[in-house]
Amino acid sequence: MMRQAGRSLPEYREIRAGRSFMELVHDPKLSAEVTLQPIRRFGMDAAVIFCDILVPAEAMGRSVSIVEGTGPIVEPPVRTRDDVESLNDFVPERDTAFLAEAMGLVRAELGDERAMIGFCGAPFTLASYMVEGRSSRNYERTKGMMLGEPETFARLMERIVDNSIPYLELQAEASADALQIFDSWGGALDEATWRTFIFPHVARLVEAAKGTGKPVILYVNNGGHLLEAMADTGADVLSLDWRVTAKDAIARVGDRCAFQGNLDPTILFSTPAVVKREVRHVIDSFAGAAGHIYNMGSGILPTTPLENTTAHWEEVLRDVTPGASA
Ligand code: CP3
Repeated sequence: MMRQAGRSLPEYREIRAGRSFMELVHDPKLSAEVTLQPIRRFGMDAAVIFCDILVPAEAMGRSVSIVEGTGPIVEPPVRTRDDVESLNDFVPERDTAFLAEAMGLVRAELGDERAMIGFCGAPFTLASYMVEGRSSRNYERTKGMMLGEPETFARLMERIVDNSIPYLELQAEASADALQIFDSWGGALDEATWRTFIFPHVARLVEAAKGTGKPVILYVNNGGHLLEAMADTGADVLSLDWRVTAKDAIARVGDRCAFQGNLDPTILFSTPAVVKREVRHVIDSFAGAAGHIYNMGSGILPTTPLENTTAHWEEVLRDVTPGASA
């Protein structure tokens, strides 16, 4: 249950009522509670820490809010070289201590039998939110900066990576078992452009994250055309959306990486029987991979019927015992 997933559960909506999203993120007890809610209800063998990829944007000096019906808003936007230089370098132990504390509380309840996944946004996705100031369909300003002012763009990417490295290190210290990097918007670029403008920054982040000794998972939404480039970053695991078949991914990447994925979350709007059949299909399809972490190819949608979510996890966890190596 990851990527804005928890909010499909009534117990999440109950805790969220009367509070802003960022208030939840800043409160270690509440974020630990929200992290554990899906585990308590369904019994998965791994938890994704409750936080958001935009937390470092806030720590770098921007205001971040999640606005109902609009999505994330980052203010003021970062559009010029001066704006880029005005960003803070933050000290994770001090400025995001709430995250380490939440992870400690989650670990205390999970024990060593279940894994905890820490994460951050990839530099292009974070840069897009900072430059556009909000979600965007075409990333005009971001791509405009990338091609029109490549030095300013590269400096922004560099500053995001400089700040993301100690942020991931903090999460590794706080007992994350794996670190995931989310490039939600990277798929908007063709492979040559991604390799030229994005790859060096993601590869630096992946390498530093691997320096913690934890496995690194790289997700690029809509990134089926980027699988080889993603593997070249050195990531241990490629997280796939549902548009890529396991067969294609295995043929192209071989055993260089394990995979995470990749059920289409809209399948959960069908019936319990169809959901179970499709889950089994996904799990079976990765049988020949170097390794496989089951999840959905994107976040579960907030309006997903609970009955189908329950059927989904029953099927996923049919043969899983926490602590046993699968
Ligand atoms: O699911 C979880 O609780 C795990 C923690 C997590 C969240 N966001 C919590 C969250 C993770 C791993 C993320 C990642 C994230 N955040 C991404 C990358 C993954 C992806 O989906 O591509 C992105 C792009 C974001 C930015 C973001 N934050 C968006 C687009 C939204 C949804 C806004 C909307 O109105 O639809 C958020 C908010 C958010 N992050 C929620 C949660 C639980 C929902 C907040 C709420 O309304 O209560």
